[in-house]
Amino acid sequence: MSEHIVYRKDGAVASLRFNRPEKKNAITQAMYATLAEALADAAADADVRAVGLFGGDVFTAGNDIGDFLAAGSLGVDRLDDLAVAKFLRTLAAFPKPIVAGVKGAAIGIGTTMLMHCDAVVAGASARFAMPFTKLALVPEGASSVLFPLIAGRMRASWYLLSGEQFDAATASELGLVTKRCDDADVDGAVAMMCGVLAELPPNALATAKRLLKAPFAPLVDAAFAAEFESFAAALRSSEAREAFMAFMQR
Ligand code: COA
Repeated sequence: MSEHIVYRKDGAVASLRFNRPEKKNAITQAMYATLAEALADAAADADVRAVGLFGGDVFTAGNDIGDFLAAGSLGVDRLDDLAVAKFLRTLAAFPKPIVAGVKGAAIGIGTTMLMHCDAVVAGASARFAMPFTKLALVPEGASSVLFPLIAGRMRASWYLLSGEQFDAATASELGLVTKRCDDADVDGAVAMMCGVLAELPPNALATAKRLLKAPFAPLVDAAFAAEFESFAAALRSSEAREAFMAFMQR
């Protein structure tokens, strides 16, 4: 278990919190593994009815760029074996409601993981970006299919191709954010929404979530496979290595 992920159960609501503030909550393979284990535990625990997903002042700066450098030497099959793939597949298939609370930066997978959640609360400081192309990478997390579904293809294209950052108001207009509030109210709003969901009949809730996601599940599976293949090729490219080195040597 990575100490950089805090997993707690408080009655019917579980919480997962990124806790690596010194690195802006950048996510390592060990953290993905812990996230996947915690989600599996929350799915299996009948007492858990809803999950809150939190960062701190920053939600997460996305995948640890040092890990990207190391992963560049792996083939596509190995990439699919990485903890990040397990985390994404576990999140996509998670049967109970997940509500995320975002303050500060939610970058790369920090934004794409929100597309698998059931509700997203954004504080005034929330900033979203999917700067894959800036790092010579390609969309991941099934964002190539989920973001067009959420935001419409043209708007998704702009933010996925340009990597341009957007704020909470724009994220709300794009359909990525359910509620906006002051930063100080984010955790409370997530707790309140999880509490509301946790009171509802769990079987009906699970069925409703499954029905909502079922039409898109084959598309999400296909996107994971296609994106992993392209992502593995991109990770090995010299332009990506240059971009990672440039970040590491700032
Ligand atoms: N991977 C590894 N380390 C990261 C990181 C990442 N994704 N994001 C931040 N860090 C580290 C920095 O290297 C720095 O480490 P150091 O103190 O040992 O030098 C520390 O976290 C603080 O980051 P810093 O950039 O100084 O903070 P900031 O407040 O000026 O900026 C961000 C915050 C999130 C805007 C900026 O760190 C950033 O752009 N990170 C990269 C985001 C990214 O491209 N992610 C991948 C998406 S595919």
